[in-house]
Amino acid sequence: MGNKIKRYSLKNVKPGMEVGQLVFTNDGQVVLGEGTILTPSLIERLDYWGITYLLIKQNGDDSLPWQEGPDSLIQQEFFADYSQTVDVIKQSFTNMHFANEVPVRKMRELVDSMIEPLAGSVGVINHLQMVPRQDDYTFHHSMNVAVASGLLGRWLGYTGQNLKELILAGLLHDVGKMKIPPEILNKPGKLTVDEMEIMKQHTTRGYQLIKRDANASLGVLCGILQHHERMDGTGYPLKTAGDKIHPFAKIIAVADAYDAMTSDRVYHKKIAPFAVVELLVQEMFGKLDPTVCTMFLNNVRDYFLGNIVQLCDGREAEVIYLGQYIGSRPVVRTIDGELLDLEKQKKYTIVKTIKA
Ligand SMILES: [Fe+2]
Repeated sequence: MGNKIKRYSLKNVKPGMEVGQLVFTNDGQVVLGEGTILTPSLIERLDYWGITYLLIKQNGDDSLPWQEGPDSLIQQEFFADYSQTVDVIKQSFTNMHFANEVPVRKMRELVDSMIEPLAGSVGVINHLQMVPRQDDYTFHHSMNVAVASGLLGRWLGYTGQNLKELILAGLLHDVGKMKIPPEILNKPGKLTVDEMEIMKQHTTRGYQLIKRDANASLGVLCGILQHHERMDGTGYPLKTAGDKIHPFAKIIAVADAYDAMTSDRVYHKKIAPFAVVELLVQEMFGKLDPTVCTMFLNNVRDYFLGNIVQLCDGREAEVIYLGQYIGSRPVVRTIDGELLDLEKQKKYTIVKTIKA
């Protein structure tokens, strides 16, 4: 395979650039051949077809195809805004630990000024995968669930104040954890049955904390109280089931599951997003709301196209095609040019994402 190509997100391609590799739509149709020279109308059409990135030929440049392109700059900006926001969350949540009071107004401002724009930014799921994290799990997790809930809410048609309230609910969903003894919250390894019961109280504790604020909306309160309830009534704290669970809580449950699985924790290593998609498909039956889950999975998969991943045999590969069904495994092209359909070749798994 030729190495003189670089990955560009669609919004960074310009007329006159030469396509470096076949371009597929999400259902596997070839829309542009290698060597096509881009024109303004072709770029518009690519957008219409939902293409989010392209491989572009680099004249006289012999870098590897997945070396840094203009995408990386956008990612760096995302990381900077992200870490600034996490710092504010950390400060506010830590104060809460002592002051017994949640700065809801400050959190609302943070949603307006930082989190909602980040949730709407191009490539957000990829950036979230790659964001450098310190060990402050709860703060990063709160941020990620807020962003993912916002993204998911947008896909589900939420707008305006409703969308902002949903993001706020995502941001505050685990705020009750500030009231859980740190030795339980940060315990490496499995919790005992008694410790688990205490841990589960973070839902009611969070609800009580936020309920004191006169401006807290029903959606935010339900999102906090019910985010561990499950469709079949097997969740907690009240074993609420089906449509008795508030839509915000159903959305947060999916965002929460996705982030927990894709993060490194003391008791499990982070799982590559592809495997998470498979796991979420399994969870979807009975536990998570199928409409919310399907919307999330259908959209989130698009972000994985073009990702550079590591296979279980150690080889690096690029994801070039995603199968038709939600749970199907992708087709990848390895660094040595071999095409592998992981749906057929089950012995290969993706162990991690190298570049997204
Ligand atoms: Fe939680």
